[in-house]
Amino acid sequence: MRIKQNYSLKKHNTFGLDVRTKYFLEYENEADLYTLMRDEYFFSEQFMHIGQGSNLLFLGDYNGIIVHSAIVGAEILSEDEDSVLLSVGSGHDWDSLVSLCVENGWGGLENLSLIPGEAGAAAVQNIGAYGAEAADCIEEVHTFYLVEGEKRIFKKSECGYGYRTSFFKQEDNRGKYFVSRVVFRLSKKPEFNIDYGDVRKRLENKEITLKNVRNAVIEIRREKLPNVSEIGSAGSFFMNPYICKEHYEGLKKHYPDIKHYPVNEEVVKIPAAWLIEKCGLKGKTLGGAQIYERQPLVIVNRGNAAGSDIAALAEEVQAAVKEKFFIDLKPEVNYV
Ligand code: EPU
Repeated sequence: MRIKQNYSLKKHNTFGLDVRTKYFLEYENEADLYTLMRDEYFFSEQFMHIGQGSNLLFLGDYNGIIVHSAIVGAEILSEDEDSVLLSVGSGHDWDSLVSLCVENGWGGLENLSLIPGEAGAAAVQNIGAYGAEAADCIEEVHTFYLVEGEKRIFKKSECGYGYRTSFFKQEDNRGKYFVSRVVFRLSKKPEFNIDYGDVRKRLENKEITLKNVRNAVIEIRREKLPNVSEIGSAGSFFMNPYICKEHYEGLKKHYPDIKHYPVNEEVVKIPAAWLIEKCGLKGKTLGGAQIYERQPLVIVNRGNAAGSDIAALAEEVQAAVKEKFFIDLKPEVNYV
């Protein structure tokens, strides 16, 4: 176990905010987690588990313990001619995992290329992009349940997966489970999923292979989204809102070009990026925070933003969208 005191989280949040935590604690194996769960001091402080901090907005210093998994590595548990079962440490870098799978010809995660984060957080957030989500390939999530001090293994069916959500993100369960490993089932006979947005177009005249799909996704992401090692951001700041069909029909009368994706008979999903663009907010700045020109669903740190600048700009976006479209945008980013 590694413990640091009065530690800067600048490298541990993709907004690049220079906030500090009283303690930063990294566990390196499951034995560390058993030790931690029996430590009275640990439970006397407030604590929070993070991955790469790619979905967090720190509004100030953290007066407690930030916990991070340093369990890395991927090991094959079993395989047959159709698939491979891979157990991955929760601290394993997400895109390295995707790359490893693609190199080995294991399909399922290629659409999720270049998403900043780690395997454990991916399983908690159910990260998604280009028509795929982490849950599609998850078989089990291995956790430590802090309330009882014991290890608990969740089958995928017990993880409550939905759009950017899981059992572990629900109000009652938040912060009560630390993920140690995630078990993925990957296919040796991949079925490609290239119908989302520009992916198929990018692959015109190219063979549809895992590598080419990964490269297409990487190209699209590089064009639309800021590279978090150069410009601080947390990817999409808001979730795409779901509204009822009547609401959509009403809006369509005023905005015939409104984009929408049917969810079911009664509900449609509206791209938040479209709503924000229609409010004329692309490129808008507040302090050091800015609505990203190329993808207005993203708020970026222009270098010297405080967490409060980002939060204030987000609030402006919410108010504008509410006033114009009567839609509540919910942040995807978690405020700390
Ligand atoms: N759009 C605009 N103006 C823009 C950009 C987009 O109107 O400047 C509209 C267009 O109608 C476009 C639609 O928004 O068709 C969708 O845009 P895009 O394909 O870029 O996806 P998104 O819905 O904005 C979601 C995810 C992204 C993910 C992409 C691709 C959420 C909250 N965000 O964004 O996830 O990469 O789809 O699958 O679901 C993230 O979570 O950090 C993230 C980047």
